Amino acid sequence: MYKIAVIPGDGIGKEVMEAALHVLDALDVEFDYTFADAGDECEAASGVALPQETIDIVKEAHACLFGAAGESAADVIVRLRQELELYVNLRPAKSYPGTKALYEDVDLVIVRENTEGLYIGLEEETEEGATALRVATRAAAERICRFAFEYAKKTGRSKVTAVHKANVLKKTDGLFRDTFYRIAEDYKDIETDDKYVDATAMFLVTNPQMFDVIVTTNLFGDILSDESAGLIGGLGLTPSANIGENYGLFEPVHGSAPTHAGKGTANPAAMILSAVLMLDYLEEHDAARKVENSLTEVLSEGKVVTADIGGNASTMEMAGEIKRKIEQI
Ligand code: NAI
Ligand code: MG
Repeated sequence: MYKIAVIPGDGIGKEVMEAALHVLDALDVEFDYTFADAGDECEAASGVALPQETIDIVKEAHACLFGAAGESAADVIVRLRQELELYVNLRPAKSYPGTKALYEDVDLVIVRENTEGLYIGLEEETEEGATALRVATRAAAERICRFAFEYAKKTGRSKVTAVHKANVLKKTDGLFRDTFYRIAEDYKDIETDDKYVDATAMFLVTNPQMFDVIVTTNLFGDILSDESAGLIGGLGLTPSANIGENYGLFEPVHGSAPTHAGKGTANPAAMILSAVLMLDYLEEHDAARKVENSLTEVLSEGKVVTADIGGNASTMEMAGEIKRKIEQI
């Protein structure tokens, strides 16, 4: 029995969460869900976007499923990442059949350092304009690189590529690249290489099959992971995980999509694939494959899918079809 904190949030967050829980219901794995509030509606009702009670519920659970928040997303998700020390942002990009993926055979994972780099928010106005501080610590580089290799090992992936700009950012990204190769010594079975971030941006479009696991710093990871979301057909299909030493929080990359909210038209795939990442994190690999394979079948049949991928099914109809496939296994 796993204790799962469930934060549906705002807009389509609530709808795709209902869909994902409906799908998980078909599994033999037992979950004990505790629902918690966060986001714009929560803020309107209680005055805070992320109440302490929600943080406590999340901390007591084995893992957290998060839908989406609206305008308060940064206050909610950034704060949760800090509170739980979720230093990894994991973004798989895999092409599924029947989608608008640009290639049929993309299957890569971006491991983004989530705590430092240019995103620590140390900006300063100067006489000439403004400056921002880019922080790289050895400890953060070590743990993200080690995570990337451990992840590759665990998931049977054969190559890890470090992405940086050490020719220009000699000290900060030099440290990142050198740390990467030092950690790589402990993983001799895994192929390694490194690439500049600008070249990587191009190769993701022209030859994404060359990538397996990419490990990179905060800003580069943010940009490249949205690029790879575009590569596989968009936000309706892109899941993510935020992982720390003892905790995982799983969420679709998309937000509350106000234009879809309340209509039952949102694609539940990104949320369902986030739940798949959670199942793998909990080492429930059989269950994870059942869900992923059933979703793949539904996508490839293309009959009961949402409008963003060319169908006319509702969020819950698509979830229901996936659930039926799981029950037939
Ligand atoms: P968004 O991801 O909500 O939507 C962007 C576009 O993608 C829209 O055109 C939407 O129709 C489409 N889309 C997104 N998810 C979809 C799905 N599941 N099925 C079909 N189409 C989908 O991003 P946007 O519009 O920039 O932000 C809307 C709100 O969400 C804002 O208030 C923003 O702050 C918040 N947000 C929250 C995030 C989070 O909770 N982690 C992340 C990103 C945005
Ligand atoms: Mg982003």
